[in-house]
Amino acid sequence: MSPMVAQEVTETSENQKLYLLSQDKEKETARLAIFHNLTKELFASEILDSDALEAIAAKAKAENRPLRIADLGTGTACWPLEVVQILAAKNIDAQVHGYDITDEKYPSNRPKNVSLRIWDINEPPTEDMIGQYDYVQVRLFVAVLAAVKIPLALGHIKSLLRSKGYLEWTDISLARGQVSTQNLQKALEYTVLVLDAMGKDNDLVNNFDSYMEKAGFNIVKSSFQYMHKSNMEERQAMTSFLLPACLDVLRNAMTLEELREKDPLKNREEVGKIIIAAEEDLRNRPRMTMPVRRILVQKE
Ligand SMILES: C[S@@+](CC[C@H](N)C(=O)[O-])C[C@H]1O[C@@H](n2cnc3c(N)ncnc32)[C@H](O)[C@@H]1O
Repeated sequence: MSPMVAQEVTETSENQKLYLLSQDKEKETARLAIFHNLTKELFASEILDSDALEAIAAKAKAENRPLRIADLGTGTACWPLEVVQILAAKNIDAQVHGYDITDEKYPSNRPKNVSLRIWDINEPPTEDMIGQYDYVQVRLFVAVLAAVKIPLALGHIKSLLRSKGYLEWTDISLARGQVSTQNLQKALEYTVLVLDAMGKDNDLVNNFDSYMEKAGFNIVKSSFQYMHKSNMEERQAMTSFLLPACLDVLRNAMTLEELREKDPLKNREEVGKIIIAAEEDLRNRPRMTMPVRRILVQKE
C-alpha cells in the first residue's frame, strides 16, 4: 500500500470516529427511520422537490438518459429506496446512488437502480462521480461536518452535479432546540457545547444561505418548519429520536481523548448525573421544539 493510500484510510476512520453516533447500528437505524417519516410529515410528504424533479426529468428525457440522483451520508438508504418507488410510479427512468463513509447500515436487499457506495465527503470525488448527477440530497449532516469543512464539501457536491443540477439539504438546529424538562434542556445544551468544541456549526441551518452563496449556488427555495407546530405524534417522534441521540453523543464524548484539551464537559460527574436524570425524564413524554430547515439550491 502506498503511503498516500494509508493516510487516506487513517483520515477516513478518524472522520468516522469523530462522528459520535455511528456506534450502535440498530439504534441509529431506528432513529433514521423516525426522522425520515418526520421530515415527510413536516414537508408535506415531499422528499424530492417536485418542481426540480419536473425540470430534471424533462432534461434527462430530452438527453435520452436516465435521471441520476445521489444521496450523501445515506445511512440506511431509506431516502434512495423511497425515491426510486416515487420515480417508478411516475414512469421516470432513474439511477440513485447512495454514498456514506461506512456501509454498516446499508440494507442487504435493494432494487437494481439503487447502488450504495462508500465515500467520505471530505475526500475529492473520483473521476466517475464528476458531473454525473441531476440532483444531490443531503440530510442530517449538522453533526457530521466541521464548519471549516463545509465549503470543501459544497465544492465536492458542486463537482458531482451537472449544469443546472440541484442540491437539497435538510437539517436541524440543535442550538435553537428547547425541551420542557431542565435535565433534558441541560443535556441538549451540553451536546451543543460538545459539537461546538468539535468545530461543528450548530446553527448550520441559519447559515445555509451564506454557505450556499459563497459556494456559488443559486438559492431556489427554502422552508423552515417548527416542531411545536406539528402534532403530538411527530413531537414524540422527535423526542424519541433526537434526545436519546444527544444523550449518546454525550456518553461517547465523555470518553473522547480529542475533546480533553478544550473540554466542554469539565465536570464529568455532573454530566453523568444529568444523563441519568434526562433518561428518566424521557419516559415522561417531554415536549420539545426545534427548527428543521430545507434548502434547495441550483448550480449555474
Ligand atoms: C445522521 S445520519 C443521516 C443519514 C441519512 N442522511 C438520513 O437522513 O437518514 C449521518 C450519516 O452520515 C454518515 N457520515 C458521517 N461522516 C461522513 C462523511 N465524512 N462522509 C460521508 N458520510 C458520513 C454517517 O455514517 C451516517 O450514516
